Amino acid sequence: MQIVFIGPPGSGKGTQCQMLAGVLGIPHLSTGELLRRTRGRSPLGDLVSSYIDRGCLAPDFLILPLVMRLLEQQDFASGCLFDGFPRTVYQAGYLRGHLASIGQQVSVVLHLNVDEEELVSRLEARAVLEGRADDHRSGISQRLKIYRRRTEPVLAFYHNSGLVCEVDGQQSPDDVHRAIMAKIQGLLGT
Ligand code: AP5
Ligand code: MG
Repeated sequence: MQIVFIGPPGSGKGTQCQMLAGVLGIPHLSTGELLRRTRGRSPLGDLVSSYIDRGCLAPDFLILPLVMRLLEQQDFASGCLFDGFPRTVYQAGYLRGHLASIGQQVSVVLHLNVDEEELVSRLEARAVLEGRADDHRSGISQRLKIYRRRTEPVLAFYHNSGLVCEVDGQQSPDDVHRAIMAKIQGLLGT
């Protein structure tokens, strides 16, 4: 299965993908994690930091080769849990083209809905606990702004194909997971 998670910063994409990866045995691809692993260790890493630490999207010439290299690995033959990709309509079209070239398509798009107040409170709490470089006030507001402007249109892209499932992401992590499992089991007919 090719499962795409779409949701604003702090909506639980990473948390839910980790839980689902364990149950479904499908690898989790977080483009944010991929970028964080390359930040700050080389001239390329400095370039990555200059985008992600401010909450701006990394350019496609950086992100697309990273994603495509991973998807070509054997681990991803059975599918993927996409966390943070595609993030623009261009990336969604690119992914559609890639999947079509291997005879596959996106199975479902899970849209995590969470109120803005709750998102900010989760990210501010994480800033204290983990100190992620983009969890500062201006980084959070920039990520939210870019989400509304660049990523929400991706939902319209997938709505036209009837692929979007709405998920209430405001519940506890376990309840969100149960809601997602129910939707996936419905799709699989199990
Ligand atoms: P990315 O790493 O994807 O960050 P994000 O979209 O800002 O989202 P987060 O990781 O902050 O939140 P999440 O939805 O994963 O929630 P989480 O489970 O962590 O991207 C980072 C940056 O990389 C981007 O800004 C951009 O610069 C760049 N980038 C990434 N992909 C790109 C792309 N495709 N193209 C270009 N640039 C790209 O949960 C958040 C917190 O809430 C945690 O502390 C968690 O424990 C808690 N929590 C989770 N669920 C719940 C719940 N149900 N109840 C209470 N607390 C919860
Ligand atoms: Mg995440």
